[in-house]
Amino acid sequence: QKNGYRFFMEKEIYEQSDVVSDCMLGRVKNNSINFDEIDESILDGINEIKICACGTSYHASMAATYLFERLSKVKCNVEVASEFRYKEPLLTNDTLFIVVSQSGETADTLEALKMAKNAGLKTLVICNVDNSSMTRVADATILTRAGIEKGVASTKAFSTQAIVLWMLSLYFAKIKNSISHDLIKKEINAIIQVPKVLIVENKLHEKTRRLSKRYLHGHGFFFIGRDVFYPLAIEGALKLKEISYLHAEGYPAGEMKHGPIALADPELFTIALMPKNTLYDKVKSNVEELSARDSTICSISPLEFELSDDFIKTNDRDHYMLEFFEMLVVLQLLSMEISIRLGNDVDMPRNLAKSVTVE
Ligand code: F6R
Repeated sequence: QKNGYRFFMEKEIYEQSDVVSDCMLGRVKNNSINFDEIDESILDGINEIKICACGTSYHASMAATYLFERLSKVKCNVEVASEFRYKEPLLTNDTLFIVVSQSGETADTLEALKMAKNAGLKTLVICNVDNSSMTRVADATILTRAGIEKGVASTKAFSTQAIVLWMLSLYFAKIKNSISHDLIKKEINAIIQVPKVLIVENKLHEKTRRLSKRYLHGHGFFFIGRDVFYPLAIEGALKLKEISYLHAEGYPAGEMKHGPIALADPELFTIALMPKNTLYDKVKSNVEELSARDSTICSISPLEFELSDDFIKTNDRDHYMLEFFEMLVVLQLLSMEISIRLGNDVDMPRNLAKSVTVE
């Protein structure tokens, strides 16, 4: 059932364009976003959004906090479910509580959801599995329609979560009238291009395959980015850790000088996310600092950066979220190709299970 792909992970990376299209079906029409499964009254009395999730779902949620504040103009924060559960959080019923989960069964996320529900908060789950435990507890469910994900390292679950969260931030923007019609139109115009952006180009895949041979040793990786590319950097680092067993960290690019830059030397690999549409010059100066300390740099960007040792050229896009989805694919392919070269089982990494139903 791998349809000619070497691993389920590879098949699932290539499926992302189709499943994201499915996920958008009926939800994007006539320059507007609709979710039949929820009601506009969902924001009645709401002043704040709180998101809880784990792992890759947490990274999609982190990216969403930027979108909910920027587009919906609702205060939004996110927490790892295992931390949230035991911190004795203050829960007030002007908060919409959202959990994000591929499986709908992750123990910590499920318990966080139950806590919020018991405290009387409105709850919403964004989930890939209908009739899972979380969908049975939450007041409302939005399904991500990614289909069954077999690879333990999550790929298409993340891209469908990210698109749902982006669409939801615009749905909320419409309810709250928080941004202009022109801006909503511009965002929707970008959203409908995502399936095209997610089609894997041969030359891009080949580039990551060739480059992977230079990134097998060394003492570690820093994936760096700013804005939504910071959560994307953490997601890229997690993918690499999971299937290559190499040490990788995702970091906000602007934080490197506050400590981590001490690690820089030629054996430290920096994977720099340098989108054209968001804070390019800021990230560039952060990468220049690393280059001056001799870190080996692989930049991922539509713009060539003369100080990088390697360069993965992405397409010129006119919206940062389109760059986000394209760079996501690059990071997924790069970690898969590194893992293959190391001879690992890409689909069944050691020590990991697909669904973490114990605490
Ligand atoms: C990473 C991965 C895990 C899951 C996490 C949450 O590739 O798959 O980090 O994202 O265990 O699982 P769900 O989304 O099912 O709650």
